[in-house]
Amino acid sequence: MKKDFLTLEDLTAEEMHALLLRAADLKAGKDQSACPLIGKSIGLLFDKTSTRTRISFQTGIYQLGAQAIYINTKDLQLGRGETLEDTAKVLARYLHGIVIRTYAHDTIEKLAANADIPVINGLTDLHHPCQALADMLTVWEKKGGLKDVRMAYIGDGNNVANSLLEAALLTGLDLVIACPQGYEPDKKIYERVLSAGARVRIISDPAEAARDADVLYTDVWISMGQEREIERRKKIFRNYQINGKLLSLAKPGAVVMHCLPAHRGEEITDEVIDSPQSVVIDQAENRLHTQKALLERLIR
Ligand code: CP
Ligand code: NVA
Repeated sequence: MKKDFLTLEDLTAEEMHALLLRAADLKAGKDQSACPLIGKSIGLLFDKTSTRTRISFQTGIYQLGAQAIYINTKDLQLGRGETLEDTAKVLARYLHGIVIRTYAHDTIEKLAANADIPVINGLTDLHHPCQALADMLTVWEKKGGLKDVRMAYIGDGNNVANSLLEAALLTGLDLVIACPQGYEPDKKIYERVLSAGARVRIISDPAEAARDADVLYTDVWISMGQEREIERRKKIFRNYQINGKLLSLAKPGAVVMHCLPAHRGEEITDEVIDSPQSVVIDQAENRLHTQKALLERLIR
């Protein structure tokens, strides 16, 4: 049976561990000549802009021997009224997998339900699981493990925060999320991972979250699709910035993470993102290695 990757919880803790080990091997250059996906075609359906997700998937797919077909969904007949169900069924006759970036999470659920090929979530309004995979590899590399590593996520309880909550459940990461009231992560996800034993907390004070953290993480205050809320969000999130003062509260060897793209001067200062403690470029690189490990697992 085909396997999708719509949220991080489509993997068990053991599968996630194995996937990170495999990604580390691929990164180290093991099996460099292996092309397990030779002759296959993978569609990249994007409703939103992307630098890292699109290019890392396209490159990784090529390195595994397959071809990537990038499709701006505006160019599909979907825009002229063809249903998502028909689109999914037809694409499954040509392709061996689909990576999709879109708005509503139920769009990818519907796509996956109708396509008899693996569907990979390249970001929805609710989840960004491919990002969380790369993030976990990065923390592992920088901190020597994941269990009990203290991560403070400062900012909007968005798709990235939701996937980090699921990552905490699968890895034992000790995650504190500091966000303004009313901008918390998805309640259902939070309550589910908490009751399943994840070490997660949601608070509102960024300083309390940052104190003694091993990792400080942030993301934009305004996600794709929220452009109408720019002015209001800029006011609400003003104090949720990773700057030198906040970083000084973390452990001396703490690392700073950001999924990128960053809005410098908003959620993070130049001083911090360009400092030696920032690992954002390694994090972006790890998208490539973790997604190759994921594709190897899913595409048949
Ligand atoms: N982090 C991330 O998903 O970046 P892109 O939006 O550039 O793909
Ligand atoms: N939360 C951001 C992540 C971008 C990679 C967004 O959805 O726009």
